[in-house]
Amino acid sequence: MGDNRRHLHLGLNAPGLGTYRSAWRRPDVDPAGPATGEFYIRLAQEAERGLFDAFFLADQQALDPDWQTNSGAARLDPVIALTAAAAHTRSIGLVATVSTTWHHPYNLARSIQSLDRVSHGRAGWNIVTNHNPRIAANFGLDSIPEKAERYARAAEFADVVESLWRTWTPDAIVADKATGVFATVGSVTETAHDGEFFRVHGGSTVPPSEQGLPVVFQAGASSGGLELANRHADAVFVSAMTLDAARDYRQRLAGHASARAPGRHPVIVLPGAALTLASTDAEASRRRATLDDIDGSLSSRQYIAGRLGLDPDDLHPDQPLPLHRVDLDERAKVNSEGFIRSIVALAESGRPLRELLRDGTGHLTVVGSPKTVADTFERWFATGLVDGFNLMLDVIEESLPLFVEEVVPILQERGIYRRKYEGTTLRDHLGLPRPHW
Ligand SMILES: Cc1cc2nc3c(=O)[nH]c(=O)nc-3n(C[C@H](O)[C@H](O)[C@H](O)COP(=O)(O)O)c2cc1C
Repeated sequence: MGDNRRHLHLGLNAPGLGTYRSAWRRPDVDPAGPATGEFYIRLAQEAERGLFDAFFLADQQALDPDWQTNSGAARLDPVIALTAAAAHTRSIGLVATVSTTWHHPYNLARSIQSLDRVSHGRAGWNIVTNHNPRIAANFGLDSIPEKAERYARAAEFADVVESLWRTWTPDAIVADKATGVFATVGSVTETAHDGEFFRVHGGSTVPPSEQGLPVVFQAGASSGGLELANRHADAVFVSAMTLDAARDYRQRLAGHASARAPGRHPVIVLPGAALTLASTDAEASRRRATLDDIDGSLSSRQYIAGRLGLDPDDLHPDQPLPLHRVDLDERAKVNSEGFIRSIVALAESGRPLRELLRDGTGHLTVVGSPKTVADTFERWFATGLVDGFNLMLDVIEESLPLFVEEVVPILQERGIYRRKYEGTTLRDHLGLPRPHW
């Protein structure tokens, strides 16, 4: 931003048409959007118009069981979708969620670095280890490996990926047609890795992009996740419904700081922000009620029950969550500790489920006018606990233009958001240094 003031980093997380499962039933929404390249191109262009740092795609490699009523079940591979968006955008970062549990590091290194080349230095990889047992069946397993094993594999996986990404030095290609020398001696280093999960001996075919290395994100807040974040991540996607949960996450992340290379920039912390936006607070509440009616509170109850291992029918809107019946350690083992901690932190207030659901299902939730959203963002940002937000919009194609036209100018006015892209790469947008070779 031309000066050294901190500024807010914004991502658009687009797991389908929006946070509402019934978003596809909205009059002007293309129900099959997420199964088309055009959908991702439209969103990336609109987020770029809002000067967002990144267009972010969460992902799960499994068909959702409720495909009969859930349009989100039909969607593209995130790397392919982002490659389409890369060709129709110039500045916005492109971050793909790809699991370390169900991929091989050689293929992952090559596809993400290829996206980085195609986009001229705008690619990012969001590391997840998954907890969805339906994925295991797609890969010939009866159950998902234990969390500890998934994170041990993830740590080795990320080591191999970064080694492969460094196969070519940035100036390796000299392409001297007269002498016939394409790349200089010593400019290509093959990986020689013999580990518990992988043996990789060879090099990647993809030279570095303008930003050197793709940006690494990570999502998951158990101790394995925090260790991985410190060791490999430039930025993290976090579930924090309250400032206390964000503070708790920061403290726990710092608790694993010994895993971070000395002198490396601090991890950029981006919590999810689930928004229902309208021109006034009252209108936003009405919009929320309308969307809730179509979706029915059942889907949110099912979501919370699924995270806590309870039967949705045991959750009553006018009663607090029966936390005494939840084995939190067990749930943290088989689900995402990040989300569990966030939901429990809120449920401990003892408020009835109906109120908790109003506060969201795992992420900071704001229902309000552009000013209310800007006030919340500014207040959280001013604490220094978060560096920005990964937006999750109720019905993306309805709310994103409103966010770009109404919220962005307020944030710019307050001096906490960029007025133009200063650089061309995702590293530039996030204020990250170019990696050294
Ligand atoms: C904010 C957030 C976003 C996540 N996004 C995804 C995702 O898109 N796909 C996925 O398979 N897992 C996702 N996960 C879960 C991760 O796979 C995580 O590695 C796993 O659940 C273990 O989580 P834990 O370390 O929080 O216990 C996410 C987790 C968090 C906290």
